[in-house]
Amino acid sequence: MKLGLIGYPIAHSLSPWIHNQLLDIHGMLGEYQLFECETDGFADKINEMKADHIAGFNVTVPYKERILPYLDELDDAARFLGAVNTVKLDKGRYVGYNTDGTGYLASLVDRHADAVESPKQVLILGSGGAARGIFYALLKQGIKKIDLANRTIEKAQQVIDDLSASSISQALSLKEAEEKLVKYDLIIQTTSVGMSPNHEQTLLSLSGITKDTIVSDIVYRPMKTAFLREAEARGARIHYGHGMLLHQAIYAFQIWTGKPTDASEMMKAFEKKLKGV
Ligand code: ATR
Repeated sequence: MKLGLIGYPIAHSLSPWIHNQLLDIHGMLGEYQLFECETDGFADKINEMKADHIAGFNVTVPYKERILPYLDELDDAARFLGAVNTVKLDKGRYVGYNTDGTGYLASLVDRHADAVESPKQVLILGSGGAARGIFYALLKQGIKKIDLANRTIEKAQQVIDDLSASSISQALSLKEAEEKLVKYDLIIQTTSVGMSPNHEQTLLSLSGITKDTIVSDIVYRPMKTAFLREAEARGARIHYGHGMLLHQAIYAFQIWTGKPTDASEMMKAFEKKLKGV
């Protein structure tokens, strides 16, 4: 089975490692290739992949939106979010999916089974593509009380409007959010702040949280970000970012092959791999 990833830059992607493990676990023959290409070569690369009958591929930055005109059909999440991270070749047609939000949710519930039991007050930090995907998945799960805080508050409001959540959700500045952290059960950091090499940066202070708060960060390099270290030091429960990466890959693999995978089997090996890179 020919699989792959298109994006730029992707030389350090962990996706080949994950998908080669998945192929092994399921005893399938196949290959997961990197289709790295700069913007002006994108159309040619996609046509090349179509001609080569690549059965399934992931899409990452900067092409999650740019891929849309090349697809024949979209799943609900991809259509709603206007972004695709997984494509499947199905009877000669390319179908686009978005597994980011569902992958995040699966990783969260895997680690904190009670995290999404309602009623829950959730705060999402950031308003980019990752925040949108997670917001959408939480809404689908039935969680309604979700606020969004962002450096650019207008962008937070735009996400809320796009997801038709304005009757309940509030857009906040980071400062406003910092002052009312106590009211949230789950705080999800979705920006790249804190990512290596800027690993000492945090988006806001967590002095307002309680010991019952779950603090989640989607950054996974380093695995334990400064944000998560602060949350832990304050006695809160934490949720790491690498689980999202693994779970969205498992969903993608299931879309391509129909085969589900128990994430716990792979998690230990994945964590070992992450520590070594
Ligand atoms: P992605 O699609 O990966 O989520 P993105 O669309 O580039 O990434 O969104 C990045 C998010 O991180 C935005 O919410 C951005 O805030 P702005 O909307 O104000 O730009 C946030 N972000 C990035 N760097 C930041 C920083 N240094 N401080 C605060 N927020 C930051």
